[in-house]
Amino acid sequence: MPRKVNYGPDYDDNYDEYDYGYEVDENAETPPQKETIKHSVWRCSICTYDNDETMSSCDICGVLHGPLLNNSIYDKKRTANIFDLKSSRVSSTVVGRDEAVKVSSMRSDSSNQSTEKGKHNRLDEINILKNIEVGPPAGSRTSDNCSASVQEGWLGHVDESSVAVNLRSRGKSSLSLMPKERNVMVDDSSSSRNGGEANSLTSNLENISFAAKSRHSNDAKPGRAISRAQYKPEKWMLPEKAEHSLTQLNLAIVGHVDSGKSTLSGRLLHLLGRISQKEMHKYEKEAKLQGKGSFAYAWALDESAEERERGITMTVAVAYFDSKRYHVVVLDSPGHKDFVPNMITGATQADASILVIDASIGSFEAGMDGTKGQTREHAQLIRSFGIDQLIVAVNKMDAVDYSKERFDLIISQLGAFLRSCGFKDSSVSWIPLSAVENQNLVSAPSDFRLSWYLGPNLLDAIDSFQPPTREFSKPLIMPICDVIKSPSQGQVSACGKLEAGAVRSGSKVLVMPSATIATVRSLERDSQACPIGRAGDNIAVSLNGIDGNHVMAGGVLCHPDFPIAFAKHLELKVLVLDGATPILIGSQLEFHIHHAKEAARVARISFLLDSKTGKVVKKAPRCILAKQSAVVEVILQEAVCVEEFSKCKVLGRVFLRTLGRTVAVGIVTRIVEEQQ
Ligand code: GTP
Ligand code: MG
Repeated sequence: MPRKVNYGPDYDDNYDEYDYGYEVDENAETPPQKETIKHSVWRCSICTYDNDETMSSCDICGVLHGPLLNNSIYDKKRTANIFDLKSSRVSSTVVGRDEAVKVSSMRSDSSNQSTEKGKHNRLDEINILKNIEVGPPAGSRTSDNCSASVQEGWLGHVDESSVAVNLRSRGKSSLSLMPKERNVMVDDSSSSRNGGEANSLTSNLENISFAAKSRHSNDAKPGRAISRAQYKPEKWMLPEKAEHSLTQLNLAIVGHVDSGKSTLSGRLLHLLGRISQKEMHKYEKEAKLQGKGSFAYAWALDESAEERERGITMTVAVAYFDSKRYHVVVLDSPGHKDFVPNMITGATQADASILVIDASIGSFEAGMDGTKGQTREHAQLIRSFGIDQLIVAVNKMDAVDYSKERFDLIISQLGAFLRSCGFKDSSVSWIPLSAVENQNLVSAPSDFRLSWYLGPNLLDAIDSFQPPTREFSKPLIMPICDVIKSPSQGQVSACGKLEAGAVRSGSKVLVMPSATIATVRSLERDSQACPIGRAGDNIAVSLNGIDGNHVMAGGVLCHPDFPIAFAKHLELKVLVLDGATPILIGSQLEFHIHHAKEAARVARISFLLDSKTGKVVKKAPRCILAKQSAVVEVILQEAVCVEEFSKCKVLGRVFLRTLGRTVAVGIVTRIVEEQQ
């Protein structure tokens, strides 16, 4: 379940309303292509920036001039950066490409290695980008301003009674773990079979050219001519008040490895009747037999043999329960550092999050460790996904004798860090609990050692979340996190969270990046057939009239009249995280966007921005250091489905990672060049 990020850079209260209009002086010249020799400068041996000779240390990276002084004054012509590409616009017509798609991942990315991370973040670190002002995109796409009329009624109506259930369920009515069902269903030949490995599907897609595609009757030739603002939803797309008594809340359970996320989720599901006593006995028995008795509740979520064997979650498990106010979709994420990409995939779909902390001595500290701890990385990531409502579940309180002092210490240390990530104190609830001893989960604690705590229990805290806002009235957007194929039956289903708009059986959808139009055959939500899927719903969409190879994780289902872009040359506004290695021109990074992952090269660093004011402080710096923000251009190895953040947040948030660590978060400010 891939994929799904606000952010970014903009972590303040008005994050979503952030003004991404560029303010950089339009006249601020682009760094010259060629520059004549500057005498009286010395070149930094680390970042190669040319400093004035009066500077004793590098203006950019702070390296001392020292003994290199004399040698560093260079007298050669500086040539233009070869990546200093000109902004260019291409036709507003979307022509999909079938190659170059990445499978987003629920699976392991075990090649990751951790990189050393230094000091702890400063309080204001993530707020850096909130005031960033950058210049207007020189070549912004103008397609959205065109005035072609919206074609109403684009979704053909089909009798809802004809909706068929095409997806096999595990036969578990009480608990549904959608992504994991995939493994049962996926045919061996499915390209999504290795779904979590984020491998390029290029080789599977046979370089189908646009010309070739035009031979298909269903191929789309959509134009990017209609502004999303002009879209008028049909009546059925908007929910009627009484229709859903409970609002759906997608809840990501995140936190350091072994903090008890799966145990907490399993326990909650059991307490709320989603796991029967009989099933629980089965888990207990099996877990004991394998010498993993303490993982009985976690086994409800950790279903694969490898997860159970290793005692860690590797892929995101999805389960459901109802609280008083919400239909809660639990996204139980892996905590191990090797599976952060999978965690990203699940958490990007979330409306709110529970950050689980292991209160035991040494464990909380391990989670906060700058190098190996995932508490900090997960908190930074979820905030940058746009999640601003958080419960901190301080778990394993039994292991510290339900000590108030320990709880307070955790609040003071982690609270400061969460503020630095942009979480408001008023949006964070702190709940001491014990998943194993069932203290403070769905009722007030019964253990007298927790009598000092007078706040809400976990379930009440979940009900205190503000309801998420949904984009019902916008054109359809569903980033595809997973694909289920059954070639024998000729069926293909795209799974993901509907970020905007609605679909129902009979709807025509544009499948990107293959730019092929398909018809919705049926929908499944919570493993049940459903007639309509609307913004906020996690659904599986069974498609007709499309070759299975044209549907891939990392792609997007969208409205045929409102195709999203497909591009590999992007301008980003990024914030380098505290402790991360500097980003240099030419740095090779992993680029993550919704459910897609792609290799990227930093082609240009256009501006360094003031962390407080967001104003441009330097043009064309050679590197971006930790806690600095900048406007950069990246060129991806293969194109991805993308939109500018100002137009579509979910398709415009990015993460840059390297060596198993997230080094920067950011947003797409401009699509420099779309793919033809
Ligand atoms: P990953 O998904 O691999 O990151 O782990 P996790 O966070 O899901 O942890 P999991 O639920 O697998 O639990 C890890 C261990 O912590 C198990 O042995 C649990 O029994 C134990 N554990 C979980 N909750 C509690 C608790 O409240 N108290 C104590 N003492 N142990 C707990
Ligand atoms: Mg787990």
